[in-house]
Amino acid sequence: MREGQNNVIYRADYQAPGYWIDSVELSFDLDPAKTRVLNRMKLRRNLDAAPQPLRLDGEELNLARVLVNGQGTSFKLEDNQLVLENLPEGGDSFDLEILTTCQPAKNTKLMGLYVSNDSFFTQCEAEGFRRITYFLDRPDVMASFTVLLRADKAKYPVLLSNGNLVDQGDLADGRHFAKWVDPFRKPSYLFALVAGNLVAREQRIRARGGKEHLLQVFVRAGDLDKTEHAMNSLMASIAWDEARFGLPLDLERFMIVATSDFNMGAMENKGLNIFNTKYVLASQATATDTDFANIESVVGHEYFHNWTGNRVTCRDWFQLSLKEGLTVFRDQEFSQDLAGEASARAVKRIEDVRVLRTAQFPEDAGPMAHPVRPDQYLEINNFYTVTVYEKGAEVVRMMQTLVGREGFARGLKLYFERHDGHAVTCDDFAQAIADANPDSTLARLLDQFKRWYSQAGTPRVRASGLYDADARTYRLTLAQSCAPTPGQDVKEPFVIPVGLGLVGADGAELASGMHVLTQESETLTFENIGSEPVPSILRGFSAPVILEFDYSDAQLIALLAHDTDPFNRWEAGQRLAVNRALGFIRDAGVAARDIRLDPPFMNAMRAVLRHPTLDAAFKELVLTLPAETYIAEQLDVVDPQRIHAVREAMREQLARELAPDWEQAFEQHRESGAYRPDPVSSGRRALTGMALSNLCLAARASGDQVWPGKAYQRFKDAGNMTDRFNALAALVTSGSELAAPALQRFHAIFKDEALVLDKWFALQAGAPDRGGNVLPAVKQLMNHPDFNIRNPNRARSVIFSYCSANPGGFHRPDAAGYVFWSERVLELDAINPQVAARLARALDRWKKLVEPLRSAAREAIARVAARPDLSNDVREVVTRALAD
Ligand code: TRP
Ligand code: ZN
Repeated sequence: MREGQNNVIYRADYQAPGYWIDSVELSFDLDPAKTRVLNRMKLRRNLDAAPQPLRLDGEELNLARVLVNGQGTSFKLEDNQLVLENLPEGGDSFDLEILTTCQPAKNTKLMGLYVSNDSFFTQCEAEGFRRITYFLDRPDVMASFTVLLRADKAKYPVLLSNGNLVDQGDLADGRHFAKWVDPFRKPSYLFALVAGNLVAREQRIRARGGKEHLLQVFVRAGDLDKTEHAMNSLMASIAWDEARFGLPLDLERFMIVATSDFNMGAMENKGLNIFNTKYVLASQATATDTDFANIESVVGHEYFHNWTGNRVTCRDWFQLSLKEGLTVFRDQEFSQDLAGEASARAVKRIEDVRVLRTAQFPEDAGPMAHPVRPDQYLEINNFYTVTVYEKGAEVVRMMQTLVGREGFARGLKLYFERHDGHAVTCDDFAQAIADANPDSTLARLLDQFKRWYSQAGTPRVRASGLYDADARTYRLTLAQSCAPTPGQDVKEPFVIPVGLGLVGADGAELASGMHVLTQESETLTFENIGSEPVPSILRGFSAPVILEFDYSDAQLIALLAHDTDPFNRWEAGQRLAVNRALGFIRDAGVAARDIRLDPPFMNAMRAVLRHPTLDAAFKELVLTLPAETYIAEQLDVVDPQRIHAVREAMREQLARELAPDWEQAFEQHRESGAYRPDPVSSGRRALTGMALSNLCLAARASGDQVWPGKAYQRFKDAGNMTDRFNALAALVTSGSELAAPALQRFHAIFKDEALVLDKWFALQAGAPDRGGNVLPAVKQLMNHPDFNIRNPNRARSVIFSYCSANPGGFHRPDAAGYVFWSERVLELDAINPQVAARLARALDRWKKLVEPLRSAAREAIARVAARPDLSNDVREVVTRALAD
């Protein structure tokens, strides 16, 4: 059952397929225990490739029959491939018929055809189709699909596949059938089927061109009342892609189906997107503002794949960012455009950058570092990463910066003119954007720009300024470098767009513009500068780099107060906080409870909190201290306990000393009115939630029960999940005595809402550690009757919330967190290797840990690596972690 061999795949080894599959007719007799799949294909040799046997991929299949042009034939089965050698010569089409069976009910990997809550679902990206039938399971083989589904009518009244429903009817023995034809050729990874007892919210729309479309969101019967937001998000996505890029919906019917057992967020199967329930279901009673926002972006993301991914797909999996980086960029732009006004757009940008810096920068600096277009992999599922997705999106964003918004839209148009219906590479994409903008900086520097695709690691830009009062000039020097990453010792200079501004001592904007850094070091001179300015560098986070500049506190406070660029305004606050955190962390002689934040910092934070015109959402971002993982990245040796203690102490001091301001913020921003998850009202809820959390934290020291009491009241009375959950979290994170009754009550109210229970589990597994109390709590949670390690959402809510999102609780001096981690990685690997490999990455940065944590972590990883029966997924992660 397990893959034993060490088959690293290299990008340089790409070869066109030896055969093409023009069409495929699949007939399914669906049965959870044993599903029959009859696969009838029309193939022909690719005459541009060397003559070769046909090797079809297949995994965990029982082969019953193989016919070539209706006749029996000889074949071999060799390491998960069906090999056919005696095939017709020449370029003519021939028929190949294969009958197999598989066992969907036993499929715990959730790849291929599986059963969830008595319904059938498929997940084929990247290499799941081979678990359904033998096939050339690679994205550059595109076929026309016809699908016939047969199943018990009472148990599976809904039968769905890609494209258009062309026939349906009843069969003998209580069974029925449906026949679907996809009008578009597609690679196997975009195939999907769903069969089950589902209901749909339906919406008919008329597109700009006058065509009618049917939109459907399928869920389990009790969930229909939670589909309105997903449907609205889908309609907004369709309208946006037409308006911004001229890309229409190309199908008569577009379906979304939700399942609660899903390895990732969602999947863009042609015309039949399959989603994790987490990114579909929302009501004000069960979902937070963040959930609503995530649903909007994920629905957008999958819909936008219809063009960027499906109409034009990837030649091979090394090109994954061709569709993922581009589609993340598109979903980010979509959410920004929907957010509307400048401040809300900036908030979205800050949130996106925060993800990049807290998750992707560490990846780029760790053992799994890889270029946006990787050069090798053992298991492709390990490369659905923040680098391919989020950094890939930044690379596309830089292209838009270099050619302008209109130029970028022109480039995308040319991309579709050239490549519609084809499987292409990242080079093809960049070339189209450049060719549509021949006079642009991008076109001039294209080869150098493409280093963003080939070189891993986060570049550093070191900036320094020199003011000459006599000459009235300001000279700014920018120098770039990039540290080695595994397998890449030397890096060539990148093309780095640097958004720039100069802010005067009085706060006035003295200069602004964009500089494109291409050399290792360049110096810019600004003329006519009357007094020493403060440089505002990398405005809007114009490139995914680490910017170093020795700002004084006064300069940062000036930027925080005056910068016209909201991103850098926020960034100035973060720098003030990080500098302080690093100072306290290094000052090992001072106990965390004795650290004191200085008045200038407190005043700056207070000024933001009290600011009369700044948005609540923006205030909440400024007042959120940098994440522990982000602080850790700034250090060579990491003591997670010290980082946690220092950050908590800083938080407590902000809570106590700004208490009157928190109270005011809480009173001022309370929402009355009907619930709407728009950016303005969710920003207000975010800030009141933060205020409440701080007020409870402040009360912790004093023992005062007023605010915990108010939090409990709000928890009970809240009209929406955001306020309710924030109140609960305020009680839990402040360690209030009211936390336990609140948690109990919460569970009682929401015991039948799986997604809400996930929050309940995650909150407890991610709670601030107090004397090592979290690990025992996590172990207890795993014994809770509602815990189920086979459900990825539930496993993530407990195990990942602890191992990956609770550094203070996880990195225990007694190493018990690491032992727990290694046991869970192995336990999960036997169930679902994809999920196990994600968990395995929780110890990616072990080499930076302070002793004895470092040795203990290495031991735990080595214990996992020593197992002979690991999946490729986990083996690749732990092997890389241990390599020097
Ligand atoms: N292509 C999907 C997306 O980005 C994600 C995806 C890839 C996925 N492989 C998967 C989802 C496996 C679930 C399971 O939207
Ligand atoms: Zn995607």
